[in-house]
This record gives sequence, C-alpha cells and structure tokens, in this order.
Amino acid sequence: MKMAVLASGYGSNLQAIIDALEKGDINGSLEIVVSDKKDAYALERAGNHNIEAHYINPKNFSGREAFDLAVIGLLQEKKIDLVILAGYMRLLSPVFVNQFMGRIMNIHPSLLPSFPGLNGVEQALEYGVKVTGCTVHFLDEGLDTGPVILQDTVPVYESDTVETLHERIHSAEHRLYTRAIQLFAQGKLRIEGRKCIINDG
Ligand code: GRF
Repeated sequence: MKMAVLASGYGSNLQAIIDALEKGDINGSLEIVVSDKKDAYALERAGNHNIEAHYINPKNFSGREAFDLAVIGLLQEKKIDLVILAGYMRLLSPVFVNQFMGRIMNIHPSLLPSFPGLNGVEQALEYGVKVTGCTVHFLDEGLDTGPVILQDTVPVYESDTVETLHERIHSAEHRLYTRAIQLFAQGKLRIEGRKCIINDG
C-alpha cells in the first residue's frame, strides 16, 4: 500500500506513522509528504527519514482547485493508494475528494459529530464535557462528516488547559491513526453508505 501524508504543521501524527512503518506495525510505504506551509516541522520529520517531501506554495495557484490539481498530479505520479491528512489545514476541493473517494483519511481531535471544524479541543473544553477524544474518518465533501473508522476517548479534567487536553488527545491519536491505517492496508475496511464496516474477524 502506497501512502501519502498531507500535513501543515508539527507532524506528530506523521511521526507516529513513520515509527509504525519502521516497526512493521503498518504494512505499506510512505511515498511522499506534502505541505502547504514552508516551515511545517512535518517536512523536516520526513527529511530526517529520507522520505520525499514537497512544499507547495498556495500563492502560486489561482485557487483551491488549481492547488489541489497540482497535489493530485504528484500523488498520481506516485500511484498513491491512501491519502492521509495529518494536521492538514486546507479544505480539500470536490475534485480532490472525488479523485480519491474512499481513500482519504483524516484525524480530528474530538468525538465526532461533536465539535467539528477548527478548535475541536477548545470547543470541548468550553462546552464542559467530561469525556472527549479523537476520531479517524474517511473524508467526504462535508466538514468532518465522513464515515467514522475508529474513535477513542480521553477524560477531561477540571484543571485542563487546551494544551494539556490536546496533549492527552494527541497520545490517543497516534495509536488510533496507526491502527486505522493498518486496517486499511489489510483490506479490512468497507464503506457502506455513511458507515465504515470493519472486517476484523
Ligand atoms: C491533530 O490534533 C489532529 O487531530 C488535527 O490536527 C492536529 C495535528 O497534529 N487534525 P500533528 O501536526 O499531527 O502533531
């Protein structure tokens, strides 16, 4: 299974994926990392592991779709089977989603459908929930609405700040994303309507 990671920032999920690949916990190869941010630490992480890394400057394109077409071109060249969004801060255009329908995964720092969009951690903290978590889902054209693959919970403490809560969620994310990707690699995920069925028997 050939994978691509799209990341805009720190890239701790990318790191977890690289570590899992190196340990043999995911059967596949990470062919390329793409970022829309020049100084994304994710690009450096890729470089440290000799993984091809590309920064594509959105300013060089007329709009979202033109930018996405450039990314699609790179991914097609590499014959990518699975596109993994890991802290990618751009909305994908319909042309991208349709090109890789059922083969794009995202991770979100809340228990969807609660707290979609930006600041999922902050939203949970402000709402006062006692439990939150993270969700790995397939992408559809909505905002954080695609079929849920896996979820995990973490407790929220009264002493939490956005930082402490996000750190707890991050640890859960790293384990969850690795598992979801391995399930995909093993051909155990099937999308039926808005549900993702896991054939793990
Ligand atoms: C994660 O919390 C993920 O849920 C959200 O963006 C964050 C990315 O973190 N989509 P990192 O760059 O992987 O450390």
